[in-house]
Amino acid sequence: MSSHSLDEQTANGAEEAPAHPSAPAADLPGLAGGSLPEFPVPSSDPRAIADAIRPDSGLALSSTGTVVLLRHAEVVAAAHDAVTFSSGVSRHLQLPNGLDGDEHTAFRRLIDPYFTPDRMAELEPVIREVARELCAELVTGQDDSAGNAPSGAAGAGGSHSAGTGGARRWDAVSDIGARFAVRAQTRWLGWPSSLEPVLLDWMADNQAATRSGRGEDTAEVAHRFDAIIRSVLDPRRAAGAQAPEDVTTELMCDESLGRPLREEELVSILRNWTGGDLGSIALCVGVILQHLVEHPELQERVRSGVSAAELDAIIDEILRIDDPFVANRRITTCPVSVGGVRLPAGQRVVLNWTSANRDELEFGDPNAFDPHGSAESNLVYGTGKHVCPGRPLATMELRVLVEEITSAFSLITPAPDADAQRSVTPVGGYSSVPVLLMPAQDRRSAITCG
Ligand code: HEM
Repeated sequence: MSSHSLDEQTANGAEEAPAHPSAPAADLPGLAGGSLPEFPVPSSDPRAIADAIRPDSGLALSSTGTVVLLRHAEVVAAAHDAVTFSSGVSRHLQLPNGLDGDEHTAFRRLIDPYFTPDRMAELEPVIREVARELCAELVTGQDDSAGNAPSGAAGAGGSHSAGTGGARRWDAVSDIGARFAVRAQTRWLGWPSSLEPVLLDWMADNQAATRSGRGEDTAEVAHRFDAIIRSVLDPRRAAGAQAPEDVTTELMCDESLGRPLREEELVSILRNWTGGDLGSIALCVGVILQHLVEHPELQERVRSGVSAAELDAIIDEILRIDDPFVANRRITTCPVSVGGVRLPAGQRVVLNWTSANRDELEFGDPNAFDPHGSAESNLVYGTGKHVCPGRPLATMELRVLVEEITSAFSLITPAPDADAQRSVTPVGGYSSVPVLLMPAQDRRSAITCG
């Protein structure tokens, strides 16, 4: 929940050595400007933590000494001042998110063309097919081809239809979001479908490692991910001119820097496009479906047909209110004042997007649903030089999934046997959103027969 880097995800929270928000204000050794409340809390919803602190203080301090920016104005100012707030926060290679200045610009010139409107329009039918196949499996309750029983399948939810009037029970995060994310990304990159179970296992372990905060766990999942990427690159190298024509091969041959990418650069870019992003898309799906469950009138409006632009705005607003992509890190390169607090050079800082997206000073009531009114200030995909290059892809994927799911299912309601569970810091959104999906046909026949 970061700029998609494994190391970055760890830093978003695990490194933050949490403390309770109602704990006494921390002293600020090395910082001028008074005392700040402590941030964040272990085993708590990061959105709730930020909501509790932000009205009284736009800044908080983790017990490891990282300053957390909670207000919209300060987060935007820091994101736009990439000279003072450097992204060189990690000892690992992170392309392009760990770069500053000209080096960063050169890598963005290489990366951005992969997400142009034309390319996204060309990819959309492929992603729609992925969404349709998934919806068909959700209707029939079928296992997927790779042999992964969805978590709501027999066992957790049995046939899914007993006592639910033909509706099927699934978890919006693991059964829908994670599977859609893995299939969409692998189809986009041209990776084999046999990687689906491997990537799904990896996503679960990555989340567990992120939560644990143990360096050895996150290092292990990072190495595993690199091995997955190499298993895709090596056969292409061996195939030479016979390598499939897809985005992965294109990246391997990309010479926009005036030379081919080195192995570690390729791995880093692909890690950013998959590793963290799969989790982000899955969490976004959980947040969106939970919002639709809680707002049946919005669900009905979407189902009755809204334009692509309108649906994009609706989804962006749902994610603004509950942004599962919590934060990114920076480090100051010189002394700077933020919100009346003087930060020294070398100060570690976190831009908390989830909190900034709910700042009362910017949005008034943070829960007021106003897709067009909030659009300009929406920070779900960041802002400034490091703004998300994958936004067009994420936006298209999420829209297509919502279109297909609201068309395949005439009603999405909460599962009666379990509540949605919030993720805990450093991950945002929900860890689980149990839903009942009523297949469109079943509802029609229920009405006819009833
Ligand atoms: C699922 C929804 C997504 C969300 C909420 C999201 C959010 C963000 C945010 C907030 C940033 C800014 C990071 C910073 O300022 O340090 C970012 C950067 C980035 N995102 Fe995304 N992203 C998403 C999907 C994607 C996708 C699908 C891709 C690519 C396939 C992607 C690739 C990247 C990369 C490479 C960066 C680093 C850009 C840079 O440092 O210049 N993102 N993303």
